[in-house]
Amino acid sequence: MVNFKEIQKNYIYKNLFDGHWVESNSGDNIEIKSPIDENTLGYVQAMTKEEANKSIENACEAQRYWKQVPINKRADILHRAASILEENAEEIAEILTMEIAKDKKSSLAEITRTADYIRFSADAGKQLEGETIPGDSFPGTEKNKISVVTREPLGVVLAISPFNYPINLSASKIAPALIAGNSVILKPPTQGSISALYLAEVFNKAGLPRGVLNTITGKGKDIGDYVVTHPKIDFINFTGSTEVGQHISKITTMKPLLLELGGKDAAIVLEDADLDESAKNIVNGAYSYSGQRCTAVKRILVMEKVADELSTKIKNLVEKLSVGDPRENSVIGPLINDKAADFVMNLIEDAEGKGAKLLAGGKREGRLIYPTLFDHVNLDMKIAWEEPFGPVLPIIRIKSIDEAIKIANESKYGLQSSIFTKNIEAAFYIADKLEVGTVQINNKTERGPDHFPFSVVKSSGMGTQGIKYSIEAMSRLKAIVLNLKKEI
Ligand code: NAP
Ligand code: G3H
Repeated sequence: MVNFKEIQKNYIYKNLFDGHWVESNSGDNIEIKSPIDENTLGYVQAMTKEEANKSIENACEAQRYWKQVPINKRADILHRAASILEENAEEIAEILTMEIAKDKKSSLAEITRTADYIRFSADAGKQLEGETIPGDSFPGTEKNKISVVTREPLGVVLAISPFNYPINLSASKIAPALIAGNSVILKPPTQGSISALYLAEVFNKAGLPRGVLNTITGKGKDIGDYVVTHPKIDFINFTGSTEVGQHISKITTMKPLLLELGGKDAAIVLEDADLDESAKNIVNGAYSYSGQRCTAVKRILVMEKVADELSTKIKNLVEKLSVGDPRENSVIGPLINDKAADFVMNLIEDAEGKGAKLLAGGKREGRLIYPTLFDHVNLDMKIAWEEPFGPVLPIIRIKSIDEAIKIANESKYGLQSSIFTKNIEAAFYIADKLEVGTVQINNKTERGPDHFPFSVVKSSGMGTQGIKYSIEAMSRLKAIVLNLKKEI
């Protein structure tokens, strides 16, 4: 087991810099309280701009060495990190549960999935190959020209992760970036920093050379603009809200970006669907971790003829969801903060006020919102369009497949959609027309398996994640052209 004590001192968590855990001189410590019981879990430090600059400069220096390390050695370090993470899964899962109120089982699953992700990234990196391109396939070019194309790292990757998967969505940036030969600056979510710092220590303990992974803690609103616009950041890999993603895209110039942002994933249910299976998938997809997943099912578009039957089945399942303490594995727990709960309640009140039929929930205790289900939601209600990031699901009744496609595509988001039907022709007809990155047929919307491409369109972001695709995004092609003598 790893002794994680080095990263904290009297519960003030330090930052990883040049292979060591160092204290900030800012004197500004941010208290991290558990959303479960308000107990203080520790303090993370708001780093100064000067310290952030030093950290980025250091990562830039380290990258020059790291890119020369053979890829099989880089892969060995990632494999070691995966093993260390697994060995310490229980301890880190407990911290994760306390810090972001994720139920125990899902916290543990996030960690084991992350270990698999890191290993898969190591192996995928080794499999990436370059190519040679003969010049004479282009008109007018002689046979003496050959382009040798290889993959090069980009430099320093800035990884910014959200609160809902502080381990997984940090590692899914770090591992592909590292295997490609980049160094990484990790700016974790403030609520989620402690968990992410433990992840950084896992990589550190695995033998990552000094400076190849540095962390910068501090509130995004204070330090964010400085780090994203820093001239030595070569790539930004961001997951979070559309609002912050768009802001980053506005203030940066000629910095390549990968943006994974919000969503309003629709589950489209046709008349011939297996309604029991559809209801099970929808409830699981919509309410796990209290709906705080980018890929949560966030609206149902159901054909009128089967809407009564489906809504009854969903209601029955929603009523059985466990509500309470995430330490006891409740599916529905307190939301991440009061502001998030206020936002969700506002959507609930708007829907009720405009005549939606409340089938379940609608109640709040502190920042815990009971799993809420609305039927007869119309398009004038905010819940039809906004991402709640909480446990509330609207049912919108539709008259035709084309109406479902129209409403689905009217969303500003374009993350995923599900289609439930036994008619594969209809499924492909709809899938072809949906403006989203991924369409799931007869399954809930979800990200994994993590080697599948995870694409986004419209306000859901830019670019494609997924292990191989992430490595490709965080590297570039370099061509070395051989111009051979025509005769010797
Ligand atoms: P958020 O408020 O946008 O924060 C995301 C990250 O950005 C945090 O680390 C935050 O730091 C940082 N940040 C804030 N302002 C910044 C700035 N000006 N410059 C640089 N960084 C800044 O999002 P969240 O509440 O953590 O996460 C929920 C959102 O993420 C939802 O909308 C969800 O749909 C989306 N999400 C999308 C995906 C996907 O794959 N598409 C996956 C997960 C989540 P602080 O914590 O210090 O503010
Ligand atoms: O919150 C966004 C995550 O990337 C979703 O992953 O579908 O496995 O929960 P998930």
